[in-house]
Amino acid sequence: MGNMKKDLVIIGGGPAGYISAIKAARLGASVLLAEKKSVGGTCLNQGCIPTKYYVQSLHTISALNNAASRGIEIADPSFTVDMKKAVKGKDRTVKRLVKGVEFLLKGSSVETVDQKATIIGQNLVKLEDGSVVEAKNILIATGSATNKIPIEGIDSPLVVDSEQILDLEFVPKRLAIIGGGVIGIEFASIFNSFGSEITIVEALPSILKGFDEEQIDVIARSLNKKRIKTFTDTTVTKIETKGKEATLTLSNKEVLEADLILLAAGRVANLSFLTDQFKLEIEKNSIKINDYGQTSSPNIYAAGDVTAKSMLAHAAYHMGEVVAHNICTDLGLINQGKKQIELDIVPSVVYSDLELASVGMSEQEALATKKYDVVVGKFPLSANGRSLSADYSEGFVKVVSEKKYGQILGVACVGYNVSEIIGEAAVAMQHELTVNEIANTIHAHPTINEALKEAAAICIGECYHWGT
Ligand code: NAI
Repeated sequence: MGNMKKDLVIIGGGPAGYISAIKAARLGASVLLAEKKSVGGTCLNQGCIPTKYYVQSLHTISALNNAASRGIEIADPSFTVDMKKAVKGKDRTVKRLVKGVEFLLKGSSVETVDQKATIIGQNLVKLEDGSVVEAKNILIATGSATNKIPIEGIDSPLVVDSEQILDLEFVPKRLAIIGGGVIGIEFASIFNSFGSEITIVEALPSILKGFDEEQIDVIARSLNKKRIKTFTDTTVTKIETKGKEATLTLSNKEVLEADLILLAAGRVANLSFLTDQFKLEIEKNSIKINDYGQTSSPNIYAAGDVTAKSMLAHAAYHMGEVVAHNICTDLGLINQGKKQIELDIVPSVVYSDLELASVGMSEQEALATKKYDVVVGKFPLSANGRSLSADYSEGFVKVVSEKKYGQILGVACVGYNVSEIIGEAAVAMQHELTVNEIANTIHAHPTINEALKEAAAICIGECYHWGT
């Protein structure tokens, strides 16, 4: 590839990089996107999408287990999971979505190269084949990677990360998971349904730090019911590997045996695009940006996990779109002024058979501010027809509001399919709708979504499907 000149060179083709490439190109910029693996990034290839494929298998297994109670007689109800076929199925779904992104990029006239890129100057990007691209602007969207924590024996071949476990061709008999965060809980649920015995080791006093305490209680009870063992306030101090078996020594002196260990103790920004020839300001091991997405070098922007602002695909989409707008403003292609990245209202979801979905402040966070007269409306899903029809009676939808204006401070849900509610909650918060407005909007029945209306109605004392 000869030397080139571009308006924008993007390093990394995940959610932040590819959406930005498409938008900037559609606004008239000449764009080169360098992606060393596959467009779609971690989200599409090794994260959100492949895990959702396996979460759907978990639901299929639950449905099989519940079939008899629904009068569906299956002659031989026993089953096993053929991981080789499961991996192929997962890959089919991923491939289809990757092709979709490739199609969008091509259709928008984005030039893509499947090479690693590094920054060698304020306007210079070097590709693996040695060619150098002169770029008016650069966008860093290199994402994140598994946080390798220093534990004696962590380099064992029996330790895998959340990317490697997706291609596992067998179901481990005993799976130990280091980290009880979103990744740990998702894989615990998936492999438990596939037949593994699971133990989670979490360093903090609680799993799923940052979520509402009542949400965590429901998930903890559900893990317990499935005989998933959880150690909290505990770390792994040593891993010893003998052949196909590993022994984990825990800080509480207990010893665990496992056939596989999943390391899910957080992710760290991927800074491998930096070279000795060119430096950028780093903050907490990630790229420092201002509200417009600019790094310490104003023509170089960054978006997504590499900034460690919010390691979520949908936050990356937002950041990618905002920086594309700002870069096209710098280039004089549009003239509406620059936009700021706004990450105050970002929903987050954890997937297992029960889902956990949140946006805004938890009840505990709202109370801790001491700024509001907090009013909470909590509607149990045991009173929701759609949830009960699907055999799920656990969970709730909770609206955290304040008394004076009825402003919604946060929404926390846990239960069957609650991920589908959280978009409405985010819209309501983004546009400052009140609990009164949500409660007085007709919601379709029977849906899980109507539990949000009921929870808002509880806040104003007008719920007639719960309470007396
Ligand atoms: P996380 O930060 O959610 O959880 C990591 C957990 O590991 C924490 O609870 C932490 O206390 C624990 N930990 C750290 N060091 C430990 C040690 N030495 N021993 C035991 N426990 C230890 O990170 P996770 O689950 O790895 O996810 C990484 C990122 O990816 C997060 O930012 C997450 O938001 C994002 N992600 C989001 C998903 C979703 O929204 N559904 C799915 C997957 C990832």
